[in-house]
Amino acid sequence: MTRRVSCRVCGGKVIEIVDFGRMPLANAFIREQDFAKEKFFRLAAGVCEKCSIFQLLEQPQPSAMFHSDYPFFTAGSERMREHFQRLADETKGFLTSRSAVLEIGCNDGTLLENFHRAGFRCFGVDPSSNTLERALARGLFGRACFFNSKTADEIYADQGLFDLVLSANCFCHIPDLGDVLDGVARVLSPQGVLVTEDPYLGEVFRQTSYDQIYDEHVFLFSVTSMANLLAVKDFEIFDLEPQWTHGGSMRFYIARKGARPVSSKVREFLKREEQAGFKREEIYRAFAAACERSRAGLRECLEDFKRKDKPVYGYGATSKSTTVLNYAGIGPDLIKAVFDTTPEKQGKFTPGTHIPILPYAKFIDLCPEAVVLFAWNHAQEILKKEEAFRARGGKWIFYIPEAHVE
Ligand code: TMP
Ligand code: ZN
Repeated sequence: MTRRVSCRVCGGKVIEIVDFGRMPLANAFIREQDFAKEKFFRLAAGVCEKCSIFQLLEQPQPSAMFHSDYPFFTAGSERMREHFQRLADETKGFLTSRSAVLEIGCNDGTLLENFHRAGFRCFGVDPSSNTLERALARGLFGRACFFNSKTADEIYADQGLFDLVLSANCFCHIPDLGDVLDGVARVLSPQGVLVTEDPYLGEVFRQTSYDQIYDEHVFLFSVTSMANLLAVKDFEIFDLEPQWTHGGSMRFYIARKGARPVSSKVREFLKREEQAGFKREEIYRAFAAACERSRAGLRECLEDFKRKDKPVYGYGATSKSTTVLNYAGIGPDLIKAVFDTTPEKQGKFTPGTHIPILPYAKFIDLCPEAVVLFAWNHAQEILKKEEAFRARGGKWIFYIPEAHVE
């Protein structure tokens, strides 16, 4: 059944592309006593006929996802810390010694701290009070709230204008992006720059990384759809730069229309996407077919291990893995347990599929033979760190772009 809903951004018709079925919240790691209370929604996504933005058809309430128990902390990954140090180095050129920096969705302050240490006035906003507390503990200023036009007015009254507004892996989470851009317009100085980074739809298609689709990612941006979204609010992309983070992201440098010269890279990317068919339906349909193949391949691979009586484990209880496990119907019969370094997740179970989550130390103790790399976007860091696992004959199972064992 094809269901059409209207686009969150432009009101156009959204064509359904993928339907991953019944799904819990990706980050709702659950205790055994709460299994019966688990909440589900339907995870399906589509593309807007008019503005080409790729979006979820249904999304749970943001307050159910971003709250005082939010289990994700940016500082958990060393390579992310390095990445944000570089982001800060690459954007300081937009600042003068009197400039202030605002971050929307600052999490634990890992990115903003780089500006704070360099002597800039910083302000972080995040709706999850537990992550914001860690930012405040670093000496940053901030507020636990959703950023929107109303809170932006209050922040402006309190803090004045900002020459740089940052948002890393946050815009893709916000259903009412139009209102957020109205908020940015209120707090950004006339020549100010908004820098955003989010998973890039082009990479999701290239790698069939369908696990980027989960409740928190209400949008996956292409350059085309981002440009359309900004144009309505009199902003434009003046530069962009692909990033390795989150399995392939795009950094957008955004300013008020006409405020800064537009790099030829922006036009090139728009042309490339036009040629690849980002404004037509076929590329989206091809992606849907690739998702089906990928899930079938992973199930087959895990069933093969099971037939041979070889237990398989998982590495990284990631939010992305919730989509994969539920869509492919993989439970404790196929994956015995998942190892994770986050204390808040350990002792709990994966959402919907109820695979136990064990502390990372168990990965060493149990000496598993085969492990699915759910944190595949950190593959480089992890494979290097775990050289000993492979050296003693351990096998990594990958599912991006299709299931394979290495
Ligand atoms: P995310 O992909 O949803 O951000 O979650 C990443 C999870 O992976 C997080 O819970 C921490 C875990 N992780 C490890 O257990 N070991 C690692 O080496 C890395 C990089 C992440
Ligand atoms: Zn639209």
